[in-house]
Amino acid sequence: MSYAIVGFGKIGQALAHAFARKNIEVTVASRRPPEGLAPQAGMIGPTVVAKSLRDALEADTIILAVPFGEHREVAKALPNWEGKTVIDAMNAFPVPEELDGIPSSAFVAKSFTGAKFVKGFNHLIAATLATDPIVEGGHRVVFLSSDDEDAIAPVAALAKQLGFAPVKLGKLNEGGALVHARGRTWGQLIFQDLFKKEQ
Ligand SMILES: NC(=O)c1ccc[n+]([C@@H]2O[C@H](COP(=O)([O-])OP(=O)(O)OC[C@H]3O[C@@H](n4cnc5c(N)ncnc54)[C@H](OP(=O)(O)O)[C@@H]3O)[C@@H](O)[C@H]2O)c1
Repeated sequence: MSYAIVGFGKIGQALAHAFARKNIEVTVASRRPPEGLAPQAGMIGPTVVAKSLRDALEADTIILAVPFGEHREVAKALPNWEGKTVIDAMNAFPVPEELDGIPSSAFVAKSFTGAKFVKGFNHLIAATLATDPIVEGGHRVVFLSSDDEDAIAPVAALAKQLGFAPVKLGKLNEGGALVHARGRTWGQLIFQDLFKKEQ
């Protein structure tokens, strides 16, 4: 599997730390040229490699860590998302009216036609997500939800590799609603920093 993080701000860098901690190679990209990201990537760790957006999108698994409104720009960068897994680490807050009641990740998924689409790694503040997820033998929980049950397993495997304990919430508008904002209210599981003894 190959991994890319699109968006190298607070959440993108927090996730890059998680990959670096486990020596897993990950590409990072934003609108800036890779030379602009390389110093920060290098400081996080040698497995964090800055590339252009186009080159980063060659990865099998792409984590979206851009501001919510930018997801369409990222989606446009590839003509076809077949064969890709997209992990939506974004939050929409306050929820824009254009969503018209559908979960933000279901809205985003519409732009990534053909991809296996999973919401995850979105419920913690970046400073928390950046720290070691293994504390006193417990594993920090990340919540995963998707309308495609088969899509969750490889993302759960990645979460485990990174040291997190994945908890599957089911469909985006069912358990997944707990990690989506509604209007101006955060979902009940957002910002809950929970740990499990077993992964
Ligand atoms: N901050 C948190 O604690 C937190 C917690 C949970 C979830 N989130 C969610 O995570 C997402 C990112 O938040 P953040 O706090 O990390 O934001 P941020 O610090 O502002 O970083 C956003 C990143 O996205 C890049 N970017 C913007 N538009 C882009 C585009 N069209 N294509 C490629 N890259 C683009 C920016 O770089 P360039 O300007 O160089 O393109 C920047 O690296 C948001 O959806 C937010 O709701 C944030």
